[in-house]
Amino acid sequence: MSPRSDHLVRPESPRPTGAEPAPGPSEPIVDDRLAFWAEQAGRLHWDTGWSQVLDWSNAPYARWFGGGRLNVAYNCVDRHVESGHGDQVAFHWEGEPGDTRTITYAELQREVCRTANALLSLGLETGDRVAIQLPMIPEAVFAMLACARLGLPHSVVFGGFSPAALQSRVEDAEARLLITSDGQYRRGRAEPMKANTDEATAATPCVEHVLVVRRTGLEVPWTEGRDLWWHELVGAQSDRHTPESFDAEHPLFVLYTSGTTGRPKGILHTSGGYLTQAAYTHSTVFGLDADSDVYWCTADIGWITGHSYIVYGPLANRTTSVMYEGTPNSPHEGRHFEIVERYGVSVYYTAPTLIRTFMKWGEDIPARHDLSSIRVLGSVGEPINPEAWRWYREHIGGGRAPVVDTWWQTETGAVMIAPLPGGPAVKPGSAQTPLPGISAKVVDHEGREVARGESGYLVLDQPWPSMLRGVWGDDERYRETYWSRFPTQGYYFAGDGARYDEDGDIWLLGRVDDVMNVSGHRISTAEVESALVSHQSVAEAAVVGASDSTTGQAIVAFVILRGAAAEAAAGGEDVVPALRDHVAQEIGPIAKPRQIMIVPELPKTRSGKIMRRLLRDVAENREVGDVTTLADSSVMDRINAGLAGGAPQAD
Ligand code: WTA
Repeated sequence: MSPRSDHLVRPESPRPTGAEPAPGPSEPIVDDRLAFWAEQAGRLHWDTGWSQVLDWSNAPYARWFGGGRLNVAYNCVDRHVESGHGDQVAFHWEGEPGDTRTITYAELQREVCRTANALLSLGLETGDRVAIQLPMIPEAVFAMLACARLGLPHSVVFGGFSPAALQSRVEDAEARLLITSDGQYRRGRAEPMKANTDEATAATPCVEHVLVVRRTGLEVPWTEGRDLWWHELVGAQSDRHTPESFDAEHPLFVLYTSGTTGRPKGILHTSGGYLTQAAYTHSTVFGLDADSDVYWCTADIGWITGHSYIVYGPLANRTTSVMYEGTPNSPHEGRHFEIVERYGVSVYYTAPTLIRTFMKWGEDIPARHDLSSIRVLGSVGEPINPEAWRWYREHIGGGRAPVVDTWWQTETGAVMIAPLPGGPAVKPGSAQTPLPGISAKVVDHEGREVARGESGYLVLDQPWPSMLRGVWGDDERYRETYWSRFPTQGYYFAGDGARYDEDGDIWLLGRVDDVMNVSGHRISTAEVESALVSHQSVAEAAVVGASDSTTGQAIVAFVILRGAAAEAAAGGEDVVPALRDHVAQEIGPIAKPRQIMIVPELPKTRSGKIMRRLLRDVAENREVGDVTTLADSSVMDRINAGLAGGAPQAD
């Protein structure tokens, strides 16, 4: 059934988000924005057309395409087969050891049906949650799409996360099934995965079954009755399954991301609006041509970029993609360029941290490969510095491919701010303008839009289809985190600082809260601090993100040791390696501090708040700034004296 854009309705005025009754947004939601999104939703197949494009009457909870029904997996797979594209390649998959797999849309359909039938055989019912911790293998995509097909919200957990991190996510979502693998290849080595997930599920009674993909052949611990091999269970299923349709607002997935407290938040995304914006942005930002492009997004499916731009957006658009399992320097630093050349990649989407790593490895490495197939380059995850932008365009893009810097978040679900290819002159380092259909502003602390040339906070002042629909199981946290900063205006506060330039284009300036951005991964200072203080030697810890030329920011921790440990350290014992390992164990290797400095005290205000600004000065080797608000202004002298012996370095 075709979408019914004639059923557009003007939404009622938004309800206040704070305690006080508040007026509506500063500008009415304009019908042409809704008409625009109604048109974009026409990219999808709806089993039942919607009756209302947007219902914002229960703000900050949006309902998009109310009354509409669709199946996300059908939209990503089956309809392409039905339209005669079954033989088109969906994924050129390449494993780290060099094995490959070519998956057409017809094969993808068979695999997704088999997987869906397997999940049904386990008794899973619509609405049940499924946790997935897998390497970048095709089964990860099959599993996500099978969940989508059955209306089982998935929670994908990054393969590098520790058992403790997996456990808290599995528990919070109360997952009935965990899908994992025996192991994963990392830098040429097979490392265990099932052994870790077993540690995570030891105390999670909600998990009834663990479905295990055999990837590496490593020995695995096994719990009879609970654990099942993928190849046995999925392999035995029929490759046909009839999809049923779900409400446009049916939960599609929960994805956990770091907030400003130690506990990660489960960001909830739903079906119709999410898929509409994922498909629209993927198509327009990259100017994608499904018949000729070969597209490669280098993210991991454990992050939102992998969800929206490896799985949902590209597949909804019938894209031919490359998917690569491993690290960029296995077995050599030219691996990515070799892959670009082999498959004729025309759209390459990656993160600034990798671009800066390529810069470090040297331009002679890409120069050895024929990269002339590249047509558009994308960047995501953090502000891209103009130097990296230019290098990227010059050495990967042959001096001609446009670089699109895309700003968005786990919470926004899809790209919000980006220059469009073929648009007016692109500016190195600027994400430039909100996409058509999106509205963003830079405002001061009272929510007033700042003038050109000025900086402030980035807000989204109108709802958008792929916006989060809440924090899993925590309504209060949803309102508090995103909507309490500008309650009068009803703005969504993104947590980022930004600036308008003289032309009114937007430049992102990084986070303004206690969230660090390390190699494009969000990690909160509180999360690392609580990991550190959970170690028996640590009395107190303060963590800051210090700028780093490769990773954007690096984690630097200041730690006060407990009595016995402090004495041992004074006696020459090096406790730092154990503390760094402890953080890796508690959260995952990505959260390992680059540096840990043992200090006698921490700089605090009279109200007891740690002054991270001063610690950042120390971490970045700057002269320490204004100390007048410290409760004890001599603390910084003692810290500096303590550090004079030389700070420990990262490995
Ligand atoms: C940052 C990743 C500047 C930003 C899609 C945001 C960026 C956070 C950009 C979200 C960009 C992402 N320019 N900053 N192009 N892209 N960020 O949830 O601070 O992992 O708030 O989503 O990354 O990170 P997340």
